[in-house]
Amino acid sequence: MHYTQLLRVLCSIVIVSYVAVGVLGNITCNVCQSNKVKCLNETHFSFCGNGVLPDQVLKCPVDQICTGLQKICWPKGSISASCTPDAEVSCPSCREPNMFVCTSRTTFQMCDGDKLTGQAIKCKDNTFCSISSKKFCVDRCEITKSEIECDREAPLDA
Ligand SMILES: *[C@@H]1O[C@H](CO)[C@@H](O)[C@H](O)[C@H]1NC(C)=O
Repeated sequence: MHYTQLLRVLCSIVIVSYVAVGVLGNITCNVCQSNKVKCLNETHFSFCGNGVLPDQVLKCPVDQICTGLQKICWPKGSISASCTPDAEVSCPSCREPNMFVCTSRTTFQMCDGDKLTGQAIKCKDNTFCSISSKKFCVDRCEITKSEIECDREAPLDA
């Protein structure tokens, strides 16, 4: 195999696995699905489309989870939720030389050594936390799913 061919193959493997991780991860939090709802977290969802006011949040029945299927809520364990629990999301922790870390999609907080200090700071509407960009929060269109530094709805102990 030629060197360039090999590179091309390696490159496609990287891209394919990257996409696969995205699909298996909690990629569908807050995203309108074909069943016309978006799962906000494992159990709550709101409607998409213009027939219903978008800020109304519904909860699946007890022990059921929000999915992308036509029948939105399914018993826990029968299928995986579109938006997996926050506990499985890994968010950056305070570590030198970080002065701030994202604590959810839309909040960040100051670090004191390896601990969080002070209170959560909220990004403006329609922006996502992005410490790596050195801008703190960037427009949602400027950021791709894989660049979200802490893919949580809200800080853990908020
Ligand atoms: C899920 O999201 C809803 C609406 O934002 C919120 O009220 C609820 O507490 C959340 N549940 C969990 C387990 O995070």
